[in-house]
Amino acid sequence: MKKLTTADLTAEEKLRLICSDGFWHTPDLGGKLPRVSVSDGPTGLRKENRKDNGEVETVRAVAYPAIQSLANTWSRDCARSMGEALAGDCIENDVDILLAPGVNIKRNVLNGRNFEYFSEDPYLAGTLAREYIEGLQSCGIGACLKHYYANNLEYNRLEQSSEVDERTLREIYLKPFQIACEAKPVSAMCAYNRINGVYASENKKGFRILREEFGFDGAIYSDWEAVRDRTAAAKAGLDIEFPFNQKNYEKLVADYHAGLISDEELDACAGRVLDLVYRCEEMGKQRKKAVSREKRHEVAQRIAEESIVLLKNDGVLPLAKGTSVAVSGEYAAPGRCGLVAGGGSSMVQWSGAFFDLPALLRERLDSEVKYEPAFWTKGIASTWQKPHKAFLEAAESDVAVVCAGTGSDIEYEGGDRENMRLPAVQENLILEIAHRNPNTVVVLFAGSALDVSAWEDSVAAIVWAGFCGEGGGEALADILTGKVNPSGKLSETFPVCLESTPSYGTFNDACVSRYEEGLDVGYRYYDTYHVEVAYPFGHGLSYSEFVYSDLKLFCGEGGVTVRFNVENISKQDGKEISQVYIRPMQSFVYRPEKELKGYAKTLVSAGGSVGVEIALAADAFAYYSTATDGWRTDDGIYEILIGASSRDIRLTAKVKVENGKASLLS
Ligand code: BGC
Repeated sequence: MKKLTTADLTAEEKLRLICSDGFWHTPDLGGKLPRVSVSDGPTGLRKENRKDNGEVETVRAVAYPAIQSLANTWSRDCARSMGEALAGDCIENDVDILLAPGVNIKRNVLNGRNFEYFSEDPYLAGTLAREYIEGLQSCGIGACLKHYYANNLEYNRLEQSSEVDERTLREIYLKPFQIACEAKPVSAMCAYNRINGVYASENKKGFRILREEFGFDGAIYSDWEAVRDRTAAAKAGLDIEFPFNQKNYEKLVADYHAGLISDEELDACAGRVLDLVYRCEEMGKQRKKAVSREKRHEVAQRIAEESIVLLKNDGVLPLAKGTSVAVSGEYAAPGRCGLVAGGGSSMVQWSGAFFDLPALLRERLDSEVKYEPAFWTKGIASTWQKPHKAFLEAAESDVAVVCAGTGSDIEYEGGDRENMRLPAVQENLILEIAHRNPNTVVVLFAGSALDVSAWEDSVAAIVWAGFCGEGGGEALADILTGKVNPSGKLSETFPVCLESTPSYGTFNDACVSRYEEGLDVGYRYYDTYHVEVAYPFGHGLSYSEFVYSDLKLFCGEGGVTVRFNVENISKQDGKEISQVYIRPMQSFVYRPEKELKGYAKTLVSAGGSVGVEIALAADAFAYYSTATDGWRTDDGIYEILIGASSRDIRLTAKVKVENGKASLLS
């Protein structure tokens, strides 16, 4: 097929081209163009097949861990592998573009879609998304960076306006998009909400920043039904409306004939759709046969292994062979609940049953492992199911494991959580079991921070399983029994309670969400104002113990590189996530106490020591100046903090920055 340009198309064809075909395709203009097929991600492929009789069938696909879990791996390698594996699902199902990843910041713990997003920190979110996109696109499948931008709650999401100052937008909410754009995603999706009063679909300034400042060279489409006025959206630079909307299309055609949209404006959008179509055609040629489903399951399992976070452990874990265990909680075994995941457009139609944790533990421990669900969850509430049996079993076993959590009725797209606690019955179950067995381990299946204050002190260990996907059962059983050493760390702070979160007072305003906390999102707030947290950003325990030493800084043209040693003083190999934060020692604008600028996950063998090297980006010390409308680095002294979490700083050193260049303090 000859490659067409806008000069080969009539105005009618161009108008049609920028309005999509049905739900999931770009128009082929009567066979003149290849059709591009798009489908949902980000935690697995969710492809709808619409039959002629109107029925919708969703294809069965591999269920990977949720993005919250992926981010808890702090592993670029895991993010890339997930992108590559997902490409396999897309290739198998003739999908050209996966509608993923979403890089919106977790401004508030209640956002119903937090499980789909990476982090409260823009650097962590952006760098992992960049790898995910590179993995996906290196296998010939396009990515779609979403939801652009300042889309941080679900409540009234179609109308509410995120009211955010420029500096906060640049440093927090736009930054992950900026970093992810380095991977050259073929497309981006605008959000539903308004930003400072203007719909994301009509936000010319936002689109200009994306294209001109972040170097985005793909096509921008709307979120599904996010377009109110197709003409205004096209004039702002929104290339494709999804899905096809007859009324919007007719109005666009009428507006064109009335001269309300110029040929130049129409050509700009249509030209970018043509570029997308041909880019996908080229990428299609790179696609190889998809890796087997078994291999993709292995990827799902490996990511789950690296994502599980050991929040607390008084020594009860790992479980030794021969330990008798009483497992309770419906999330532990096949039953009514299916695979625990968040709800909405990211929900994968998984073909398997939910895993059977008691059986997996039995195999590994070679001991008696009993199971009693004790509760069922329906909607947002859980109801008791013969809890006394579970209490008796807990009393007579060496260890009790309670599997608690949320699921798609509590965490889902289209609504936010009402609070951050477990359903009351689950909290009570934990307390009742802990009362009968001091060796109680709580395993949490959820997609965003939970308030653990009601029962945390009563239990011996807490394990964050997350929405761990189809490989999560094996991964969890291996971690509980010590075959795998836990190595995940939190990509979001677990606050003590909802009331202590920085956006508590302004989250659910009906029409306007004022981002009054500004830059103070997540640990930037808790650490600057010394607010108590349950588990800090970057926290996660291991069965190994790591000792940090010998920090050295190297300052060169490219910026600062830090080197230090991590020693594993235990008898088990383990992986340690080290974090690099910067802290300006004085400043003429407000700066949070610390900002993450680098991280590394390192395998250190038992008794061994590894030199870790992390290069900070050239702009590591910069902030966005509204006085000069650009990024600016003030001269001064900056402290470099090497931490095992944001609250567990192990090594520090200082550099002097002058005219944007760092040097060692003499
Ligand atoms: C969601 C998007 C999704 C789209 C298509 C929207 O409701 O916000 O994330 O890609 O639907 O399913």
